[in-house]
Amino acid sequence: MSQGELTFRHRHLLGIADLDARDIVQILDLADSFLAINERDIKKVPTLRGRTVITAFLEASTRTRVSFEIAGKRMSADTINISGSGSSTQKGETVLDTARNLMAMHPDVIVLRHQAAGSSALVARYVDAAVINAGDGAHEHPTQALLDCATIRRHKGRIEGLEVAIVGDIEHSRVARSNVLALTALGARVRVCAPVTLMPRGIEVIGGERTRERVAVHHRLESALEGADVVMMLRIQSERMSDETPRFANTREYARYFGLSQRTLAYARPDAIVMHPGPINRGVEMMPDVADGTRSVILEQVTYGVAVRMAVLYLLGGGSRTDAPS
Ligand code: CP
Repeated sequence: MSQGELTFRHRHLLGIADLDARDIVQILDLADSFLAINERDIKKVPTLRGRTVITAFLEASTRTRVSFEIAGKRMSADTINISGSGSSTQKGETVLDTARNLMAMHPDVIVLRHQAAGSSALVARYVDAAVINAGDGAHEHPTQALLDCATIRRHKGRIEGLEVAIVGDIEHSRVARSNVLALTALGARVRVCAPVTLMPRGIEVIGGERTRERVAVHHRLESALEGADVVMMLRIQSERMSDETPRFANTREYARYFGLSQRTLAYARPDAIVMHPGPINRGVEMMPDVADGTRSVILEQVTYGVAVRMAVLYLLGGGSRTDAPS
């Protein structure tokens, strides 16, 4: 892709809600070109040389944190990681004070994961750097949805017209919200499936009329999977409901009614792919033979994670103002 074709005009990536279909397709196309760099012997381009990327993960992460760090390094940016356990947030510093102090060191990009919904948007109002939301509470996880769309498009050749089932703890899932917005923007139909107690009210209208027309709510796994092209399973986010009344009897019962097994996967199309953003709780939302089976694309999602994050850093970190990927 040449720079002249880029129309992406956003300063930050705070959520899929801010993007239109053209923005999303541009990121997916760029990610495809960066995927090739990740398969080379020498996985490095000078695109972001001289730029500084701070990845501030104030909530636990493996995939997102490491892939942003690898993405930055492969584009020759100086990447610095801070985590909650080693940062001054443990001494009572607010996320805004942390961001302002980081800003005093003049980074070009701040990648933020934080337990509070809206934290990235708040920080973006007060700093000069580009802010990328790497997950804010149960609100949004835009780069996860983008890498999921990239993976689906690679396997299915398109997103428009696909039937995608998203199953699990929808209530506490930022991945579900970002995916509903991204997939419907690209023309897919989405079935969200959870026990009544883990389904947020109004999920079908989070994107207004567009999602109202393209999102269906299910409370039975078999009906959600019937004829699906893509099955995306989510874990139960126990860490977000530790102080609450239990939402289901026990994990064994949850697994029986909502766990993806070879038996329940048979309701989906024979060529359906199986996805999971990770981390997986094997034996709960997904049986091990499905997670490791031939229809699972879970590790390909992780591979696409680096390419998508390279694309986002390229667009927001100034790479698009210098040289295109080569
Ligand atoms: N999918 C995802 O966000 O994983 P991590 O929590 O490991 O970053």
